Amino acid sequence: MSEFDLVIRGGKVITASDTFRADVGVRGGRIVAVAEKLTDGARAIDASGLLVMPGGIDSHVHLAQPSGPGVKMADGFETGTRSAVAGGNTTVLPFALQPRGASLRASVMDYHKEADGNAYCDYGFHLIVTDPTPSVLGQELPALVSDGYSSFKVFMTYDDMVLNDRQLLEVFECARGCGALVMVHCEGYDAIKFMTQRLEAAGKTAPYYHAVSRPEVVEREATHRAISHGELIDTPIMIVHVSGREAMEQIRWAQQRGLKVYGETCTQYVTLTADDLKGLNMDETGGKYVCSPPPRDRASWDAIWEGIRTGVFQTFSSDHCPFLYESGEGKLNPKARTSFKWVPNGIPGVEARLPILYSKGVVEGRITINEFVALTSTNHAKMYGLYPQKGAIGVGFDADIVLWDPNRRETIRQAIMHHGADYTPYEGMAVTGWPVMTLLRGEVVAEDGKVVGAKGAGRFLKRELSPFARPSGH
Ligand code: URP
Ligand code: ZN
Ligand code: ZN
Repeated sequence: MSEFDLVIRGGKVITASDTFRADVGVRGGRIVAVAEKLTDGARAIDASGLLVMPGGIDSHVHLAQPSGPGVKMADGFETGTRSAVAGGNTTVLPFALQPRGASLRASVMDYHKEADGNAYCDYGFHLIVTDPTPSVLGQELPALVSDGYSSFKVFMTYDDMVLNDRQLLEVFECARGCGALVMVHCEGYDAIKFMTQRLEAAGKTAPYYHAVSRPEVVEREATHRAISHGELIDTPIMIVHVSGREAMEQIRWAQQRGLKVYGETCTQYVTLTADDLKGLNMDETGGKYVCSPPPRDRASWDAIWEGIRTGVFQTFSSDHCPFLYESGEGKLNPKARTSFKWVPNGIPGVEARLPILYSKGVVEGRITINEFVALTSTNHAKMYGLYPQKGAIGVGFDADIVLWDPNRRETIRQAIMHHGADYTPYEGMAVTGWPVMTLLRGEVVAEDGKVVGAKGAGRFLKRELSPFARPSGH
């Protein structure tokens, strides 16, 4: 009998810290050897000319999330994780949203029903807390955190999710007590409401005005407020989907003061601008790019790269949140034709994240290949309690691996995507570098643009407490 179930031969292994030539031996779904030359396994994959990297971990995706009356998300677990593995990912962390008035535990169980038997890659859940009642904060949340749902998101905007300052403080205090990492959506509710009413009164209702209704100052103010609340309670926080310089500088300022404030940015903030929301001619096609915070301008791309390069951001995610464009349940729902405020917020992107960051980051010389691995895999695992099971090529890790062709040129286009959406916001973008094979726990799940894994092979991941969520104790 062979020592290994699988040997990946002759590739260049990339971790968040090192680059070296090695064979990788897999047994029982885990990496059991990394060495210059390994003996034969039951199976071999020739990786010469390819990079051998840990599978992507996308810690910010939305799947099967209720999105308001008459609106339906375009991906559930089947299509969303299919798209994820085709794009070189092996783990996703979607959100289990608590509708107001509902029990958080019951909401989590509903998401498990959606995911069970449907996923092509491994997954865990962040929680979304919309109704922090005394019983949620006193019992449900701490119990769920110790059951492996060790992070949750709170919102400073959206009618059906916004928490006021008092509630934010109470939730932060709960997180501190139970060791959870809090992710914060930083945009100011009242300022957006005010701007929206003024714009609508002036007849400015096209999708483009979504971006005008929530300018950077609105994100900056909320980011500062979240940081201040975190400091008051001594709770580490992760500011998600940062769009430009203003919020990035708030996070940098907090980090320089020694606060445990972390940052995430996303593909759209180095590739899209508010002008994309103008559509073809200030028309409804701009709705394809409506997401929050909105994409800004090219100067903001530079600011985001600065934040990536200087370590302000630990994670680069997709914020995959897909809706159909050509559908009455999606971007073109009947109300959306009357005002930008009804266009569902979110864009698809889980499949395009790795190729875009590789191409714009590594190939164009903005980041190293090791930083690429950190930003797309290792740091997500460390931040969200999955390390050392996930996020690296090393002995003992799950054999979650992407084989990457660094020279392959591709054009991102809807025709080759595997998501449930009917468009990609990155249509026509030329990239260099492409995932040619994805392995989940040693099994090939995607190869040459085809998903070959079994539906249901993806497992639920019970996560540890994040070491990054420990209060600083001063
Ligand atoms: O527009 C976006 N990003 N929708 C997804 C929900 C969120 O706030 O992450
Ligand atoms: Zn958000
Ligand atoms: Zn999101």
